[in-house]
Amino acid sequence: MQGKRDSFTSRFGVIAAAAGSAIGLGNIWRFPYVLGENGGGAFFLIYLFFIVLIGIPLMLTEMTLGRSAQRNAFGTFKFLAPKTGWPLVGIMGVAAAFMILSFYSAVAGWTLEYTLQAVRNNFAGKNPVELNTMYGDFVSGSFWPVVWMLIFLFLTSAIVVAGVSKGIEKYTKILMPVLLVIIIILDIRAITLPGAGEGLEFLFKPDFSKLTGNTVLEALGQAFFSLSLGMGTIITYGSYINRKERLMSTAASVSLADTLIAVLAGVAIFPAVFAFNIEPDAGPKLVFITLPNIFQQMPGGYFFALIFFVLLVIAALTSSISLLEVIVAYFSEELKISRKKATWLSGIAAGILGVLSALSYGPLKDVTLFGKTAFELLDYVSSNILLPFGGLLITIFAGYILKKAVMKKGVEGESGHEKLFKVYYFIIKFLAPVAIAFVFLNSLGILKF
Ligand code: PHE
Repeated sequence: MQGKRDSFTSRFGVIAAAAGSAIGLGNIWRFPYVLGENGGGAFFLIYLFFIVLIGIPLMLTEMTLGRSAQRNAFGTFKFLAPKTGWPLVGIMGVAAAFMILSFYSAVAGWTLEYTLQAVRNNFAGKNPVELNTMYGDFVSGSFWPVVWMLIFLFLTSAIVVAGVSKGIEKYTKILMPVLLVIIIILDIRAITLPGAGEGLEFLFKPDFSKLTGNTVLEALGQAFFSLSLGMGTIITYGSYINRKERLMSTAASVSLADTLIAVLAGVAIFPAVFAFNIEPDAGPKLVFITLPNIFQQMPGGYFFALIFFVLLVIAALTSSISLLEVIVAYFSEELKISRKKATWLSGIAAGILGVLSALSYGPLKDVTLFGKTAFELLDYVSSNILLPFGGLLITIFAGYILKKAVMKKGVEGESGHEKLFKVYYFIIKFLAPVAIAFVFLNSLGILKF
């Protein structure tokens, strides 16, 4: 099996691919809106705390497990702990990947629509109210949201069919740095808008009176979602990393890059939210009604809007391919279906589920379960429950089921960073699992802090 497996060809390729998975709609669309719904600065601090305490060590753990086993997420557990129930963690990851891929594609479809609107110069001359209406008219439809979602899934599947190094590595290497530059340009325009200070304060000044048990769970869920953790994406990508790579610095670089992009997106969005009188808790539409306003206020706005949305689509693609890859690696390696067949079949299945999400702001907006639309439910269950729970199980697996020596060798190969490994191992064995368990108990109301 090992000889035939595809792998990344360079160190930068590995970082680019993992960063490509991490950086996506989670940073630019989800982070600002969830932060806005959860009161701003306090959420941000807790989020950062989780990235450092849980995110980075868990990313390192997932990379290590995947690289040690050289298999898909399910196969990794089966290989490292034969004849146990652990491979079920892999199955849970495949289920989460399906759910996320479905609603992710719906939102990515909105970015395709907005790319087209940018081409047509349709933001020009519209005030914030009109831009809001434009968004509302689009998402409440029953045709285009579905069509764009399907087009996006088609693109995702086509890239995954091409294979890991040819498909994934090539696209991410060049485009992520360009995205970073555009966001910085947006930031400069946003913080020079009249009233920008209020937005920066909202983002960076913690107001702990706004905290609820659910805020903490939302921050944890966002950290997992943004770093692509808890479901086997990074295990699967780890399996394509060669033995010489130093995983500690890879995991840290990827997590930092991801966090940087999220913060920079926040710095673009919140000043604009206050400058244009938009509600910070506007929800999933926040980015779509905020950014077009900024583009209108800047020289070359037409041009910047266009490149921004094209890059956002690409950032979404490099994440969605990593979601689909989890499913495809599982079906092709464990059930021995050809990669091509596995990809197209999974794409179609995600498309069927995706219709529910794509219509959640239109014809299906009143169809709810536990007070949530299909879109909200798929997002909540996967991001806030399945990913952190998967993460909890992975830390337990790495800390208690595998031998310490196996983890040690896996993390740094032969090179050995004694001290750092000790810190890491302590976190993964004690701090991280306890923290995740606390957050769960707290949001269930069993334990209050
Ligand atoms: N991390 C991706 C983003 O921020 C989404 C994702 C989640 C990808 C889970 C893979 C696994 O957009």
